[in-house]
Amino acid sequence: SILVTILFNLGEMATATESLDEATFEVLGVELGYKVQMVSPEDEDKELLEGFGLDLEQELADEDDGDLEIRPPVVTVMGHVDHGKTRLLDAIRQTNVTAGEAGGITQHIGAYQIWTEHDGHERAITFIDTPGHEAFTAMRARGAQVTDIAILVVAADDGIMPQTVEALNHAQAAGVPIVVAVNKIDKPDANPARVRQQLTEYGLVAEEYGGDVMFVDVSARENIGIQDLLDAVLLTADAGLDLRANPNKDARGVAIEAKLDKGRGSVATVLIQSGTLRVGDAIVAGTAYGRVRAMMDENGDAVEEAAPARPVQVQGLNSVPRAGDTFLVTDEDRMARQIAEKREAAARNAQLAKARKRISLEDFTRA
Ligand code: GTP
Ligand code: MG
Repeated sequence: SILVTILFNLGEMATATESLDEATFEVLGVELGYKVQMVSPEDEDKELLEGFGLDLEQELADEDDGDLEIRPPVVTVMGHVDHGKTRLLDAIRQTNVTAGEAGGITQHIGAYQIWTEHDGHERAITFIDTPGHEAFTAMRARGAQVTDIAILVVAADDGIMPQTVEALNHAQAAGVPIVVAVNKIDKPDANPARVRQQLTEYGLVAEEYGGDVMFVDVSARENIGIQDLLDAVLLTADAGLDLRANPNKDARGVAIEAKLDKGRGSVATVLIQSGTLRVGDAIVAGTAYGRVRAMMDENGDAVEEAAPARPVQVQGLNSVPRAGDTFLVTDEDRMARQIAEKREAAARNAQLAKARKRISLEDFTRA
């Protein structure tokens, strides 16, 4: 029949009972003169929010240049297992020029901000401190782009490994500039030149080789090159990224990680992307909603408000959002609750549709 012929041309080797994936379904529709409309979950959520008078894209587009203020870069550390991501994040945290004196115990809240001196100025950098690029991938899958710059950690003794390639592919696909940290240079068998050589094959050509990627030799263990790495991050940020946001409006951002705490209930680390989040604000994050009861920074200190690029741990949501869920402040508690409930309903419908989506060719023929 005609249907089967079309599918053969698509390389699908279809039989009359096989189910079709979305792309095939779409092409099939075109061939038969139907318009097949696929609605992504992001589009659906956008529509849902528009129903509440919230058009976040329009909001950003409408902002005047004068509303925007410089914000710190948000950095994710990625790389192969054991190449030193955690150790490097620890070393970076210790360089914080404002920490230490207070003797505060550093809390793990999934992200932290440090202050460093760069070119005679104190500058902040936000690091997302979640395990590897899984979080990055999970967030990207939900349409949340939180990272401005990726640090790709490569152990100088090991060279590039499968997850190094995976990580750089993710960063490149997201259009995020990469700074390469060639780690473990304290090791006797370290070969930083080889790392540079290997990465040229993936389009990451070091400045000293005529390319435009900054490579910094570091030892997270011996605390070598950490300041140079921070400088490279800020140089990359200043070179081509327009990192500005409007702090004077209701906060919008992304949940980085969240958990249920015995005493405190739902605690979610959120990264503010625009606006300022304040204690008492009504918020919705994915399908979780509530009022910000308290906020805490990476030093365990209570904070009253959080500006763009600031990560804070938020208490007061009624449930635990997922990593990558967007959050926003609403005018009233009621609106936050209604958005959450509509999302719940949409998620339920999507589940049902998924069960129904495996439309067989037979059904299609009959229709
Ligand atoms: P996963 O989270 O498992 O992917 O690993 P990771 O990339 O976070 O690596 P981690 O920081 O846990 O470091 C792995 C091992 O390498 C640990 O034993 C570290 O002590 C060691 N290590 C990290 N950085 C250095 C370094 O600069 N020099 C040396 N000699 N060892 C290092
Ligand atoms: Mg680790």
